[in-house]
Amino acid sequence: MSDVLYPNHLGIIMDGNGRWAKERGLSRSMGHKAGADNLIKLLDYIYKNTSIKVVSLYAFSTENFKRDKKEVDYLMDLFVTLFNNKLGTIKKNNVKVVFSGRRENLPQKVLDSMDKTIKDTKNNTKGILNICLNYGGDYEIVDMTKIVAKQVLDGTLNLEDITKEVVSKNLYQDLPPLDFVIRTSGEKRISNFMIYQSSYAEYDFPKTYFPDFDSKCLEASLDNYRKRDRRFGNAK
Ligand code: FPP
Repeated sequence: MSDVLYPNHLGIIMDGNGRWAKERGLSRSMGHKAGADNLIKLLDYIYKNTSIKVVSLYAFSTENFKRDKKEVDYLMDLFVTLFNNKLGTIKKNNVKVVFSGRRENLPQKVLDSMDKTIKDTKNNTKGILNICLNYGGDYEIVDMTKIVAKQVLDGTLNLEDITKEVVSKNLYQDLPPLDFVIRTSGEKRISNFMIYQSSYAEYDFPKTYFPDFDSKCLEASLDNYRKRDRRFGNAK
């Protein structure tokens, strides 16, 4: 494992659940269920077989609340089931679970299951799973700006002391930068996902819908990552 290059921080935009379901004559919700089942297997593979330390998942964007109420309600119930039961293997794999996003508008049962997951995993040390829920990269920057501005107004922070480190510490989570982002289903968009943290990230856009994106597909994407020449602004 150690002689293979893995990204330190991997982001996954889990897209295509709806289309996966439609192709099978199923409801969109069944696509999300299949996506969630796949996610559990994929995370288990990542934390057991790779040296990836941090995984960030785009589970639900602030804009996703505009979807049909039935679909939103189903997703909220799915999150509760996942956090309370299905993430058990993640917890056993010594992974710390954290969340990014706004708490407002999330149902109390989801907030409770999130809080329990945070509490249950806070001392885990092998890896970090960052779940972006009710998340928007633009709102994250707005919320960080308010916190930092308040510190300046309170007199606890000098304007000239605002550094990249200060910004990073006041985002929803203080995580290392994203190295690699995979968006499944062939769509080539970022859709507001961790826009500050992905400034030098590499991207892959495999055509596979998320419910079918298994460990073999992940390894194929990682092979693409290994071929990239990451220069971070330096000359060739
Ligand atoms: C995008 O597919 C997917 C979502 C909005 C939900 C993703 C959620 C899961 C996979 C459930 C488990 C997640 C966690 C982290 C607990 P889409 O509905 O936009 O698909 P489409 O583009 O084909 O319509």
